[in-house]
Amino acid sequence: MYILGIESTAHTFGVGIVKDGEVIANQRDTLKPEKGGIIPREAAAHHYSLAPEILSKALNEAGLSLKEIDMFAFSQGPGILSPLKVGYQVAAFLGSKFGKKVVGVNHCIGHLEIARLATGLEDPVMLYVSGGNTQVITFQEGRYRVFGETQDIGIGNLIDKIGRRVGLSFPAGPKIEEYAKKGRKYIKMPYSIKGMDVSFSGLETFISRIIKNEKIEDIAYSLQETAFSMLIEASERAMAYCSKSSLVITGGVAANSRLNEMGERMCQQRGADFRRIPMEFSGDNGAMIAYAGYLMRDQRAKDIMPKPYFRTDSVDIGYR
Ligand code: ATP
Ligand code: FE2
Repeated sequence: MYILGIESTAHTFGVGIVKDGEVIANQRDTLKPEKGGIIPREAAAHHYSLAPEILSKALNEAGLSLKEIDMFAFSQGPGILSPLKVGYQVAAFLGSKFGKKVVGVNHCIGHLEIARLATGLEDPVMLYVSGGNTQVITFQEGRYRVFGETQDIGIGNLIDKIGRRVGLSFPAGPKIEEYAKKGRKYIKMPYSIKGMDVSFSGLETFISRIIKNEKIEDIAYSLQETAFSMLIEASERAMAYCSKSSLVITGGVAANSRLNEMGERMCQQRGADFRRIPMEFSGDNGAMIAYAGYLMRDQRAKDIMPKPYFRTDSVDIGYR
């Protein structure tokens, strides 16, 4: 069975294909504005103009033609409405043209499921860290439950905002990571965690006050050490609370090697399992949507309109 998945919730347009649950294609293109953040209509225009190219690249990679696809999955939300509509329209069009089923997939569940597939960890605590989301999640009683989350902005969003202030273009994560490697001085920063919830606006305010007087390398280093420690502490608490013996990190920020190193070390100390996910699956991608669609292949037809505020814990996971 071939399932084609389309990702379009924000900056990235991606198409992935899975064959019986195995990823056989994963193509994407990310809008990278030279200045400022993502503007919804620009993201939608980017996705519309690149959709045919990314679609044919993915089909070529898989060695398939469109009529061989058995089901179309797309990212139904959460995300920004204008780019979300592109994935919805492409999937709905292809589904009706070829007479195939169309399923809407929760974007966050895509990040979670591709992490389980890529690491082979069956039932881990999952630290989901991206631009918009920062959540500590684990599976319980039929749903992915959010045990802790950011009370304000996502960690990726914090990093992108700080990056923008020092003139870095979106996404700033990889460049901040490079600067952090050269940082030598730890600047003490606000560390804000309550139970399994974290908050980053204090860090943002603090950094905006010192940004002119400190080196970007030291700021990047201290920002990563502080924010990532909060995330790993929250994850460890969730592991202890839920008696889980493994951790995965997923979402765009899971590309960061320092964050993975901290996760690895914490797990080693607890005698728990930790496995990194490959970069091609950390940021937004179509393969995760195709794979989550594969898991949901037997569910009854549901409303497929885009849902900008679609929550992870509102989805019944019938397949686990
Ligand atoms: P979501 O809808 O899941 O919140 P998203 O739209 O933020 O997704 P992702 O591709 O999952 O998209 O994540 C993008 C974020 O990941 C950006 O904020 C980017 O700066 C961050 N990021 C990418 N690479 C790194 C890195 N090496 N270190 C830190 N952050 C990174
Ligand atoms: Fe994402």
